[in-house]
Amino acid sequence: MTAPAPRGEQLCGVITGAASGIGRACVDLFLARGARIDAWDRSADALKSLESLGAGAGAAIATRVVDVTDPESVTSASHAVHEQWGRVDFVVNCAGAFLVGPLSEVPADSVRGLFDVNVLGTTLVTQALLPGLTASRGSIVNVASAVALKATPSNSHYAASKAAVAHLTRCWALELGPQGVRVNCVAPGPTATPIYRAAGMTVEQEDALLRERASTIPLRRIGDPVDTARWITTLALEDNWTTGAVVPIDGGMSL
Ligand SMILES: NC(=O)c1ccc[n+]([C@@H]2O[C@H](COP(=O)([O-])OP(=O)(O)OC[C@H]3O[C@@H](n4cnc5c(N)ncnc54)[C@H](O)[C@@H]3O)[C@@H](O)[C@H]2O)c1
Repeated sequence: MTAPAPRGEQLCGVITGAASGIGRACVDLFLARGARIDAWDRSADALKSLESLGAGAGAAIATRVVDVTDPESVTSASHAVHEQWGRVDFVVNCAGAFLVGPLSEVPADSVRGLFDVNVLGTTLVTQALLPGLTASRGSIVNVASAVALKATPSNSHYAASKAAVAHLTRCWALELGPQGVRVNCVAPGPTATPIYRAAGMTVEQEDALLRERASTIPLRRIGDPVDTARWITTLALEDNWTTGAVVPIDGGMSL
C-alpha cells in the first residue's frame, strides 16, 4: 500500500485528455508546480507534442495512449501508472467529447458515444485509480461544463452528460470523503480549444457559436484553457477542505 506523500514530496497523478486544450494547459501548470504527470489521451499523434517534456532521466511526465471508454485500456494503463510512479495522488478527468444539434436530429449512436466518453470514461478511470487515490488520501477533479448548470438549446445531450458528471462528483464526494479522498469538479464556459472542430463543426459554425456565447457572457469573452487549468491545479494539489464543489469558470455565464 502506498503511504501518503510526506510534506514537500512531489505529488503524482493522471491527467486524461492531456494532449489538447484544457488538459494540455493542465500538463504545463502541474509540471510548473512540481507535480509528476501520467498524461493519457486516445490520440497517439497529439500525445507526441508532449514527448519533449518527458525526455531525459528522472522526467516528470510519461505519456500513454489510453481510450477512457475501454475498460481494458484503462485497467492496463492504471497498472502501468503504479509500476512507473508507485503512487497516485490525483486524477483529472479531462477527456471529453462535444455534441451539438437539436433533439429532432441527434443520432442515437452519437448520444451513446458522447455518454461513453463523458460519463463512462470518467467512471472507469476513477474506478481504476481508486485504490491508489484512497491509499494516498488523494484528489479527483472532474470536468463538467457551464451548460450542466444552466440549460441551453441545441446541445441538450452534451449538457445532460455534463450534469451527470457534476452529480457524480457530489455523490462520490459523499462516498469517498470518509476515506480522505476529495472529489471536485470544474464547470467551464465556452473555451477556445479544438473540441468544437473535433465534434464536426466547421470553422464558421464554431466562430458563430463562440461569438454568440461571448456576447451574452457577463465578462464578454470566451475562456482560455489556462483559466480552467488554474482551478483544476488548485483543486488537485491543495488540500483546502473542499469536496463536492462544482466550480463555475465561465465569466458569469451560468448566473
Ligand atoms: N472547450 C470548451 O468550450 C469546454 C467547455 C466546457 C467543458 N469542456 C470540457 O473540457 C474537457 C476538455 O475539453 P477541451 O475543450 O480541452 O477539448 P479538446 O478536444 O481540446 O481535448 C479533449 C481531449 O480528450 C481526448 N479524448 C477524447 N475522447 C477520448 C477518449 N475516449 N479517451 C481518451 N482521450 C479522449 C481528445 O483526444 C483530446 O485530446 C472536456 O471534458 C470538455 O467537455 C470544454
